[in-house]
Amino acid sequence: MKKTVLVSGGAGFIGSHVTVELIEAGYEVVVADNFSNCDRTCFEGVKKITGRDDIPFEEMDFCDAEAVDKLFGKYHIDAVIHFAAFKAVGESVAKPLMYYKNNLLSFMNVLEAAQKHGGCNVLFSSSATVYGEPKSVPVTEDTPRQPAMSPYGNTKTMCEDILQDTVKASDGLIKGILLRYFNPIGAHPSALIGELPRGVPNNLVPFITQTAIGKRECLSIFGNDYPTPDGTCQRDYIDIVDLAKAHVFAVTRMIEGKMKEPCEVFNVGTGRPVSVLELVNAFEKVNNLKLNYKFAARRPGDVTAIWADPTKANTEMGWKATRTVEETLKAAWAWEKHIAGK
Ligand code: UD1
Repeated sequence: MKKTVLVSGGAGFIGSHVTVELIEAGYEVVVADNFSNCDRTCFEGVKKITGRDDIPFEEMDFCDAEAVDKLFGKYHIDAVIHFAAFKAVGESVAKPLMYYKNNLLSFMNVLEAAQKHGGCNVLFSSSATVYGEPKSVPVTEDTPRQPAMSPYGNTKTMCEDILQDTVKASDGLIKGILLRYFNPIGAHPSALIGELPRGVPNNLVPFITQTAIGKRECLSIFGNDYPTPDGTCQRDYIDIVDLAKAHVFAVTRMIEGKMKEPCEVFNVGTGRPVSVLELVNAFEKVNNLKLNYKFAARRPGDVTAIWADPTKANTEMGWKATRTVEETLKAAWAWEKHIAGK
């Protein structure tokens, strides 16, 4: 019988790509979302890509404990991937309580329901933000976490701890994997799903594509006086489909009982540092266009350079990023054109 994976926040950018990969790998997927930060475009795209018009879908808020409990009662869930969370760093500084309440409560409701309904494999979507400004790069999973720079970052660190402690106390009922994502970018090669930020994008690639299409006048590159080879920040940009596939490897590892510890941590990155300027140049080159950009002041809270050592995910999970930055930036541009109707 097919195993069932619940994807909370499954209509969003990462959730929709993960849903596609899970279905293509033979899992049954239950998608749940309250559309608080996305519209229905991506979920419709998921149905088209997979040819599945009947994906079970629940419109619900994970802060509603009763609704989460009912959900776990309705389906036999073998694993849950928890994405349902707010993710804008700046907004979290302005509205900390909104972030703590939403991001912590929703996750605790999932864990409580999972426990009550006989246990579950839990995958939490964490972030490289937990490493803060690392003392050396690349970072491994053993690189010490540092105090987060924002309430958003704090919620990632806190949810990691909540999962670790819950697993420890659960007598084997709950198993967990923490995936620490670096910078997910790009879109599905079909151009039917991708990133759809509301308002002015905070993240680099949506800002680049929106500038290229004419929605934004000019990209500001935040800082060109960093101690890096070209003065701009370095990140580990990971293709969204590669990232989504990491979830399939992690879920399978949990379901097949291949874990070495009851709660494991994996970096999900390429191991390849790319600067902001390199990314902009690559975007221009691969898509054969000129981007309007200027250098601007540093953005408060940005780290200078961070990239992953993905050895553990490569060797232990058998997952490896395969797509080049060029392929990814082509896909991001195809998606922007798709949503603009061009
Ligand atoms: C942020 C979050 C990270 C989250 C990720 C994806 C922190 C510190 N970072 O990462 O947790 O997982 O978003 O949502 O919490 N840039 C520009 N101009 C722009 C936008 C960005 O130059 O208009 C630069 C930034 O200064 C940075 C790089 O591009 O150097 C990447 O920025 P961004 O896409 O926002 O991701 P991060 O800040 O690395």
